[in-house]
Amino acid sequence: MKIAVIGAGYVGLVTAACFSEFGYKVVCIDSDKNKIKNLKKNIIPIYEPGLFDLVKKNTNSKYLEFTTDLKSINDTNIIFIAVGTPTTRRGDGEADLKYVFQVCNDISFNLNKKNNQLIVTKSTVPIGTGALIIKKLKNKRKDLVYGEDYHVVSNPEFLREGSAIEDFLRPDRVVCGVSNEYSKNIMSKLYRPLNLREAPILFTDIESAELIKYASNSFLAMKISFINEMADLCEKVGGNVQQVAKGMGLDNRIGPKFLHPGPGFGGSCFPKDTRALNASFKKNGIKSTLIKSVIEFNENRKINMVNKVKRLLDYRLKGKTIAFLGVTFKPNTDDIRESSSLVIIPALVKAGAILKVHDPAYTKYFNHFKEFKEVKWNRSVFNAIKDSDLVIIHTEWNEYRALDLKKTKKILKHPNILDLRNIFNKSEMIKLGFNYKSIGNKE
Ligand code: UDX
Repeated sequence: MKIAVIGAGYVGLVTAACFSEFGYKVVCIDSDKNKIKNLKKNIIPIYEPGLFDLVKKNTNSKYLEFTTDLKSINDTNIIFIAVGTPTTRRGDGEADLKYVFQVCNDISFNLNKKNNQLIVTKSTVPIGTGALIIKKLKNKRKDLVYGEDYHVVSNPEFLREGSAIEDFLRPDRVVCGVSNEYSKNIMSKLYRPLNLREAPILFTDIESAELIKYASNSFLAMKISFINEMADLCEKVGGNVQQVAKGMGLDNRIGPKFLHPGPGFGGSCFPKDTRALNASFKKNGIKSTLIKSVIEFNENRKINMVNKVKRLLDYRLKGKTIAFLGVTFKPNTDDIRESSSLVIIPALVKAGAILKVHDPAYTKYFNHFKEFKEVKWNRSVFNAIKDSDLVIIHTEWNEYRALDLKKTKKILKHPNILDLRNIFNKSEMIKLGFNYKSIGNKE
């Protein structure tokens, strides 16, 4: 079985590398010549633990190859579409499918009837996209018969940045939306290595598979927003949100994961997918309040974090120096997309503060926030902390969990710490003499 993966981004590259690790011949295709040139030299454009080794090993063994030439799909059996589906700029929150349809158009010229190919959407696409792809291909290739000469499948991914390879090789489940037995057999064969590890493979119709992805992501985003809202209540009435989360999570109907309070969810998926699901409700005339409220709550939360800082510094931010630790949307990634830091940092600058910013993975983006002269980047975390009036822990990198707190206290101008990820223990911090504020404890 030979596989083509179109799109060498976060999802496409991990998918291509992992399938080649299964022992399949994989060709990873991208229109970005520079990216492909670098990939051929094992220069990986994304920070994903373990990906470099996987790509290197399988490129050397010739199981994985890179090209810009879409004609390479001609001798493959399965063609994955793994291009971006960003939110459209129209402002309605809908997913922009222009890259998906562009690829679909390119595929149509290179379909090979002999290989009875499967065209599989790996990208997160709104319900009904599979049907649209079938319609487009039928229009483009009237010489072929859908369901006999080629087939369309939905196979959404559930990869978390920073643990994408683990999530691919040891998934909770594989979801395949198919429209006939042939597609089901091919996908069963494809994922046999995972099935042998007892990963359940769920076969559904195409639309259900498309919805499972949005429903899962939006539910996780809602779960995070729920605990964030409980944190707000604890800060007013008492109680400790981590104890609340622990007590909730022991109920196996709820589970302990995704109940960590923070400054609001970010990344390239939760914000995009909640907006797209909300748009699907609106587009189909269904009044949705839940997902809409998750989106609004999450956006407001970022500003609420700024208000927390203002309260901590008695509303006197002008000229105050703040060490802002962590800008990425989560640890173990270099991705800043829709990170709450993109809202919090400019708002603190606007309030008159001077920001000394640090992030372990952020070296490649040192020019970020360059429009603000009040934002200075620091390669060393202690240079950021030195002589600051406040330290804000924004992203829970292990480097910050292991911070030398005695040294931190000594070099701070004022021993103020605002821990937006609750990485420290409140009583220990108070014992060390910090004015320590965290999330979800009575202020
Ligand atoms: C997410 C989904 O988890 C994954 O299944 C999907 O395929 C892609 O989107 P990702 O965006 O990479 O993965 O990261 P994730 O670990 O889910 O975190 C998303 C955001 O939620 C981050 O900003 C993180 O800080 C935040 N988060 C996560 C919390 O605030 N609290 C939590 O308990 C978990």
